[in-house]
Amino acid sequence: MSAEKCCVSESVTPKIKPIFKYKDNVVDFESSKFYVTTPIYYVNAKPHLGHLYTTLLADISARWNKLKGKQVYFLTGLDEHGQKVAAAAESAGMTPQAFVDSMAPKFKDVWARYGFGYSKFIRTSDQEHKIAVTRLIELLLKNDQIYKSEYSGFYCQPCETFINPQEAKESEKDGKVLCPSCQRETKQISEESYFFRLSNYQDKLLEFYAQNPNWIEPKERLNEVISFVKSGLKDLSFSRKSVSWGIPFPGDPTHTVYVWGDALTNYISAIGYGQDPELFGIFWPADLHILGKDILRFHAVYWPAILMAAGLELPRRELVHGYIIMDNKKMSKSLGNVVDPNSLADWYGTEQVRYYLARNIPTTQDSQFALSDLEECVRADLANNLGNLLSRTITLAKNNGVDFLEGMALSELNSECADLLKSLSVELEDFRSNMDQGLFHIAIAGIFKQLSAANAIFQKFQPWTLAKTDSELFRQLIWTVLYALKSCATLLWPVIPSKVEDLLKSIGHELCLGKNLVDQNIKFFEKVNFELLDLSEPLFQRPVEHSKKAQETEKPATESVALNQGNDEQLIDISDLIKVKMAVGKIIEAAALVGSDKILKLKVDLGGFGLRQVLSGIAKHYNPTDLIGKSAIFVVNLKPRKILGQESQAMALCAVTKNGELELVIPEKGSIPGAQIS
Ligand code: MSP
Repeated sequence: MSAEKCCVSESVTPKIKPIFKYKDNVVDFESSKFYVTTPIYYVNAKPHLGHLYTTLLADISARWNKLKGKQVYFLTGLDEHGQKVAAAAESAGMTPQAFVDSMAPKFKDVWARYGFGYSKFIRTSDQEHKIAVTRLIELLLKNDQIYKSEYSGFYCQPCETFINPQEAKESEKDGKVLCPSCQRETKQISEESYFFRLSNYQDKLLEFYAQNPNWIEPKERLNEVISFVKSGLKDLSFSRKSVSWGIPFPGDPTHTVYVWGDALTNYISAIGYGQDPELFGIFWPADLHILGKDILRFHAVYWPAILMAAGLELPRRELVHGYIIMDNKKMSKSLGNVVDPNSLADWYGTEQVRYYLARNIPTTQDSQFALSDLEECVRADLANNLGNLLSRTITLAKNNGVDFLEGMALSELNSECADLLKSLSVELEDFRSNMDQGLFHIAIAGIFKQLSAANAIFQKFQPWTLAKTDSELFRQLIWTVLYALKSCATLLWPVIPSKVEDLLKSIGHELCLGKNLVDQNIKFFEKVNFELLDLSEPLFQRPVEHSKKAQETEKPATESVALNQGNDEQLIDISDLIKVKMAVGKIIEAAALVGSDKILKLKVDLGGFGLRQVLSGIAKHYNPTDLIGKSAIFVVNLKPRKILGQESQAMALCAVTKNGELELVIPEKGSIPGAQIS
């Protein structure tokens, strides 16, 4: 006899079939489709743990809705235009398009490794996106929602953000206006720009917030938005004349579309805005935008106003999470404190990292990242509470000749076993509401409380004795614990999908998406059979304690993880390092490189390595004449490369100051030209 099997699991990203139109009210949208998005990430750096976290929240939300039987569309992707990307491409000696093409796989590879089952990966350089942005702006121009004028104010180039006058006043320090989000110095600029009439939407937005008090989770964020809008909205600069890497502004190709008109539109261009009305009709409005608090204003003020101006419905909800913190600062590439998701996956496994982030980093607040917490989560919850319960139950059953258990009804069970399953059913209601609100950490804690209860009942009945004295009660107990494991595992599928699939297989089941598994399995107990397989290895190994190793070498626990950031994959060994030849060089000439405002052309005396021409991206940080006579450190065995027709024959080493400026690495005691670095 074999256990009842559910149908074969559906792939994580089922092909979206337009099987209904909620707009015709044929099917209530609540019970049919779910469209969830992440922000689209800037491509000037590879993904770090903060980006992983947001994308994980969206993956969990998408999978949770698949469990509920919904047709899910999960969108993520990249924000590829703008000055910052053009500058990064230039320093890499690439065209912007080649540069963004080289960055996209860095995100896709990490997302694939972590099992993120997105439906679409949008890139703002995609043709469909450019068409959608053009159509949207044409509509706004036609509706007189955009006009041409002059922009003048402070601008943060690294963040590509104009600073509003109030913020500029507050962040002024020693006569300099610092960017409120990255603390770097802003520049005053003045140029022609197209403006979106944001000021027209102040009252409409306030009315919308009042009517939809649950629109933003957590609620306090909505209050921040309301006070910002009440303080007065200014029209929004929607184009840039000085940035050429972007979408040409409709009707005026001397401008490109400014970042938010371009980036925010991804949420509608991805589902066919202006091009595929059928797909668009099915999925818009988005059911959930997930974002970090850094971009709240763009999503909760600008985006709804743009949608109102275009006559489109607003997203149904926004989940705004806090920051992952390292050393009391937001984890961010520019602050140099990022953790590489690949290193963590190598050390602990991807599902373990997924679990830690979902369980330990509350969606509602900022949280410190700590390796020791990650290890504790894996050890206590995954290896002990869940994994050990599974292996103990299977081993004990099999050792007592039980490979197969026929389904039992609640009424046939001993009262304590029945109570355990009933309390699971009660827990389900809290779980459902927490998951729907994006409070994943609370929902998961509830499931582990149930697993602890299953462990406790196992311990109390001492089934190893019971097997000899009361085989019927023994079977009831094993069946109950397996049922609890099956139910808890099903609910944990959004968080640790592949481990859950392994667990279910080991007890003769499979996950079958496409129907409401939540109610079916947990609320209305099924009389399911279990067929027990031999476990080849534990579901979760106890983690190696990398946090302790880090302490023994007197390094902060996460420093060694962050170490892997500089290169693509692994730490290098000494044989790699000696391949890089570095030497002291004395700068004897310095001038601006014609055609670039970022690069200086240097002539450098490198002693035995010769007199070389070096192109260095330090024009914004040094006056050429101040450099003459200075010694610095150069990599002398890099392949020469050409920038704007000129060859660079070595590379100057620079450090980044806390204000984000570059400074040359200078030998302290005046070593002579050609002195090698060892
Ligand atoms: N390109 C814009 C978003 C446009 S959306 C229409 C952007 N990109 S970003 O690369 O800077 O990514 C920002 C998002 O990454 C944040 O909103 C947040 O979701 C995530 N995070 C980046 N750093 C983070 C932490 N330290 N902690 C948690 N999330 C973080 O802004």
